[in-house]
Amino acid sequence: MAKKRKVFVCRECGAEAPAWTGRCAGCGGWATVDQVSRQAVSAGSVAGQPTVPLNSFDAGMAIPWPVGLPEVDRVLGGGLVPGSVTLLSGEPGVGKSTLALQMACSVAAPGAVVVLVTGEEAPVQVAARAGRLGVVPPSLVVLDNTSVDSIVALMESTGPALVVVDSIQTLVVPDLEASPGSISQVRESAARLVSAAKRFDVSLVLIGHVTKDGTLAGPRLLEHVVDTVLSFTGDRHHDLRFLRSTKHRFGTTAEVGLFEMTGLGLAPVTDPSSRFLADRLVGEPGSIVVPALDGQRPVLVEIQALTAIHGDRPVNIQAEGVSQSRARLVAAVLEQRAAIPTFGFQLFLSAAGGASAGEPGVDLGIGLAIVSALRGHPFPPELVACGEVGLSGEIRAVPQMERRLQEAHRLGFRIAIVPASTSGGPTGLKLIRAATMSEALDGVRLWAT
Ligand code: TYD
Ligand code: MG
Repeated sequence: MAKKRKVFVCRECGAEAPAWTGRCAGCGGWATVDQVSRQAVSAGSVAGQPTVPLNSFDAGMAIPWPVGLPEVDRVLGGGLVPGSVTLLSGEPGVGKSTLALQMACSVAAPGAVVVLVTGEEAPVQVAARAGRLGVVPPSLVVLDNTSVDSIVALMESTGPALVVVDSIQTLVVPDLEASPGSISQVRESAARLVSAAKRFDVSLVLIGHVTKDGTLAGPRLLEHVVDTVLSFTGDRHHDLRFLRSTKHRFGTTAEVGLFEMTGLGLAPVTDPSSRFLADRLVGEPGSIVVPALDGQRPVLVEIQALTAIHGDRPVNIQAEGVSQSRARLVAAVLEQRAAIPTFGFQLFLSAAGGASAGEPGVDLGIGLAIVSALRGHPFPPELVACGEVGLSGEIRAVPQMERRLQEAHRLGFRIAIVPASTSGGPTGLKLIRAATMSEALDGVRLWAT
């Protein structure tokens, strides 16, 4: 029988103290420290234990099983690992509950038991939503109880394949006085659930709300406790949603899952390039298509630039969907290394259609889009550009160039401006190699005349 250890935790800031105190040493709050019991793993109980060779553990336990939603499985590197804890974080309204419900239905479809802890919404609301999304498998059950003890008891008695908690901010540890959503409740609830998930080998998904500036400290606090942190983001004005992992103990954090919020829930975006280019106006100045990398996947994105007179002032840049700092760097390089003055202009840059293109491979496209907008000359519609811009004005190689060019070719593009070191591209795609920004500009001009 494990011993219980008494700890004292501030319900405002989460600081721990060895003994009760009227004033928290962490935040200075008065009467904010509560006593909490914790399963003891004291030095005494560990001392004298024999060590175990690392290679004697069954590494097969860490093999992921597919959730059945390909965009989620892509981000997780194959699926959920048994006994792992995943935090699904995002702003309110982005679609976390919808995504989790679709995961739950998918996992339960072949008969696996899945428990949905519905602290945010009444079970009847969840049932109505699930019904709209498709068939609700009978092995998907709802627990309308936010006590952590009930969830742990259910994990032990039922041994479900997956437990989804919506949300961690609604859970309560009864022996803690603080209110649900407070730092000490969130922290303690998560600690107990993580330990139960490992003990009973249950995959656990915790939903956590974060605000744009990350002020709601709950989910941030949990990042080091969980195995995986998924962040679900989107733009209020677009239906597009991005699923990224910012921490993943079982694989890479480089992948991105792409969804579209529809009337029937989240649908995977299987051909992102076609989606991003769907409404492109060809022949407009300031527009160029870039084969960007979204995670490991090449995606064609239209970069747009628009200029306005800013007066007798340094250039002002506003970027949406592309990195503001990269845009500034490229504008400075244009001015200093390619004799393209930007002083006195306001530059608006955007990745069209709600796309997100923050990687360095987009630099050359940003530079060419700016020049095209400043001069009012459009590029040929079948042109793409890709490369990182260095401070000396050089165009540098970027990862996965071959796959990027293949994607451009698949979508019907015929010319690509690329770094000088690029070896080759698909047959039918003409490469214009450029060592510098000026060479890239010359390359387009020569080709166009
Ligand atoms: P929700 O999953 O409740 O977001 P979160 O849990 O992150 O707060 O979804 C929020 C929005 O998604 C809501 O405004 C309605 C919209 N939505 C759809 O457009 N289609 C759908 O099928 C569903 C279920 C939701
Ligand atoms: Mg929700």
